[in-house]
Amino acid sequence: MKPIRKAVLPVAGLGTRVLPASKATPKNMLNVVDRPILSYVVAEARAAGIEHIVFVIGRGQGAIEDYFDHNSELEQNLEAKGKTEILADVMAELARPGEMSFVRQMQPLGLGHAVWCARDLIGDEPFAVMLPDTVMDAEPAALAQMVAAYNQVGGNIITVEPAPDGHAHRYGIVALGERQGRLAPMTGMVEKPAPGTEPSNLFISGRYILQPEIFAMLGDHQTGAGGEIQLTDAMVRLMQTQAFHALEYDGVTYDCGDKLGLLRANVALALKRPDLGADVRAMIEGLLKR
Ligand code: UTP
Repeated sequence: MKPIRKAVLPVAGLGTRVLPASKATPKNMLNVVDRPILSYVVAEARAAGIEHIVFVIGRGQGAIEDYFDHNSELEQNLEAKGKTEILADVMAELARPGEMSFVRQMQPLGLGHAVWCARDLIGDEPFAVMLPDTVMDAEPAALAQMVAAYNQVGGNIITVEPAPDGHAHRYGIVALGERQGRLAPMTGMVEKPAPGTEPSNLFISGRYILQPEIFAMLGDHQTGAGGEIQLTDAMVRLMQTQAFHALEYDGVTYDCGDKLGLLRANVALALKRPDLGADVRAMIEGLLKR
């Protein structure tokens, strides 16, 4: 079985749900506590042993490349002023040489199309897809749990979790066979099912391990829900010849793709921080008393 060495992070969407914040700043560069959303997702990839990250970016998203590169003037300034802790924090975010590639999705035609844009950089090996607006707070890291499951059953694996009541029709929803612990074979999936037709309440929550044959399915450029080229549709077709498993990973998911979700991530992860948690709690209590 080939190991999972590469991850695709598609960041080229328009981020309409967090406008106007995402107009001039890429959505995935918006802040959670004191670093961009992307920082958490890259840390998760590294914790799972990912050696190479492929970003699928759109126009005007150069800030992403800059974030993972040196800023010599800033680094020299912090060094000269003896701000060593801040400097260490900044340096830890840098890409290792050759660790990251960037490819353009020239039009936001859908998640499936974005993943397809990474095909030449991935080549003929299984790989991970990480939705970079989804922060998964877990120990071991969510993708590490996926890789462990992959080492057990191989094939294709996706994370799932229960959708909030009455919201299943907004997501990609799975149908499952018999569960073994947190893992279950998948028997079907559908993107944004019409209300009342959902096969379960479990939605595809943002981490995938896929076999390279997915690129042939995506290469047909078939459009689905919302007129977009959907990754879910390509997976449904791949499922006719390959096994898929769903993993309910052990952790908490923060969907930072809409305003409330982004705020929730900020509050929850700030409360967990040893250096900030107590002050944040006091601040919230103070605000609630007003
Ligand atoms: P979303 O639908 O959550 O992101 O896609 P979006 O399109 O940016 O958000 P809204 O709906 O307009 O608010 C999931 C992920 O897929 C990427 C997005 O950047 C996001 O990280 N994506 C989506 C692409 O890279 N290209 C696309 O064409 C569509």
